Amino acid sequence: MSKRIGIIVGSLRESSFNQMIANSIPELVDSAEYEYISIANLPLYNADLDHEEGPDPVKHYREAIEKTDGILIVSPEYNSGIPGVLKNALDWASTPTKTAVLIHKPAGVIGATPGAKGTILSQQQIRQTLDATLSYVMPAQKMYISQIMDKIDSDTRKLTDDTTRKYLQRYVQSFLQWINQVQRLNE
Ligand SMILES: Cc1cc2nc3c(=O)[nH]c(=O)nc-3n(C[C@H](O)[C@H](O)[C@H](O)COP(=O)(O)O)c2cc1C
Repeated sequence: MSKRIGIIVGSLRESSFNQMIANSIPELVDSAEYEYISIANLPLYNADLDHEEGPDPVKHYREAIEKTDGILIVSPEYNSGIPGVLKNALDWASTPTKTAVLIHKPAGVIGATPGAKGTILSQQQIRQTLDATLSYVMPAQKMYISQIMDKIDSDTRKLTDDTTRKYLQRYVQSFLQWINQVQRLNE
């Protein structure tokens, strides 16, 4: 049976490069099913709202993650770190403490930037947060996409750089293997 991968994009921007990268994944690896899990309507985390299933957008968001075999985060870097909207979303997925949907969930991290350093600092913080949620972040491979403007077609806004396409394809293929490894670990 094909794996179901949830994709969470850490940018709410309509013309987001990271959303564009996320959108290119299904055609690169078509052996999996994908669901884009929006974080746009989540309220700011407030423990006073976090009882039973939480507010409706939180309930739907948690259910969407629950149904996946693994989560890919595709995110920009803001001020040398994790974008606030993404941290907020990961916090909502980290409770209730004993039954949170990220516990033992395979996770991968990808990031794109017009800058030179490929979201390294943001990805460090995303990994740190995911570690705290007890999800299993794929350890070995990293997917840093720098100078994204040079790697897309400016008219179609599609990822055209062959090397990046190949790396991305390999990353997602490895992530599918990582899901299998984690599922064996979870048995
Ligand atoms: C508030 C803010 C802070 C930013 N800080 C960084 C940064 O630390 N490192 C970086 O590579 N790009 C930084 N950028 C530039 C983003 O990488 C760029 O806006 C990118 O296009 C955002 O991702 P998106 O296209 O997916 O929305 C920053 C942008 C904003 C708006």
